[in-house]
Amino acid sequence: MKLSPSLLSADFGSLRNEAHSVEALVDRFHWDVMDGHFVPNLTFGPPVVNALRDHTTKPFDIHLMIDRPAEYAPQFRVRAGDTITFHIEADDEPEAVFDAIAKTGAGAGLSLRPATPVATIEPWLDRIAYLLVMSVEPGFGGQRFIPEALARIRELRDLVGERDIEIAVDGGIHAGNVADVVAAGAEIIVAGSAVFGTADRPAAIRALREAVA
Ligand code: DX5
Ligand code: ZN
Repeated sequence: MKLSPSLLSADFGSLRNEAHSVEALVDRFHWDVMDGHFVPNLTFGPPVVNALRDHTTKPFDIHLMIDRPAEYAPQFRVRAGDTITFHIEADDEPEAVFDAIAKTGAGAGLSLRPATPVATIEPWLDRIAYLLVMSVEPGFGGQRFIPEALARIRELRDLVGERDIEIAVDGGIHAGNVADVVAAGAEIIVAGSAVFGTADRPAAIRALREAVA
């Protein structure tokens, strides 16, 4: 299991310190970019994510919960190994978004809301390196894991087959359910409140890792 903590639950006034507080214990960093249109919440955009880019060597997973992702993807300053993920429900032509992401040098990812049929992403599987399965309705941290997500992870795992696509799961994951999520086929676990919402982050991360060991 790779762990990608979501900075959505970190202290935004101290993002660099927050990232450093867990850097040695995690595999990647997850950034929840929200626009107040695609989801009813506003967070941060390219200037904030880019400002942190040189302060850690861990790969960034940029989760775009925004309309018009093709317009904004080029504004992220990424490194090799970073991913930019957009939602299949966003209002752009996926083809144009993939082209825009490819130009940045990041890997392309697709995400889907909990109610979007898994078959929706099938035509695009040969264009992605990363699949982000939502286990909560996108928009806010700290929500409850939707149990039906487990069956969807298994379904998507089958759909992906032998392709070189990493499956990440995002939303409501904690030490009590992470083993089920990994057993269903997730390779990357996104966790916001279960990491940054705790006072003792090393202990929280240990609990997540020990739950799947
Ligand atoms: C929800 C975001 C998630 C969220 C996860 O819109 O995509 O990344 O921050 O947070 P927790 O782990 O608190 O559900
Ligand atoms: Zn996310």
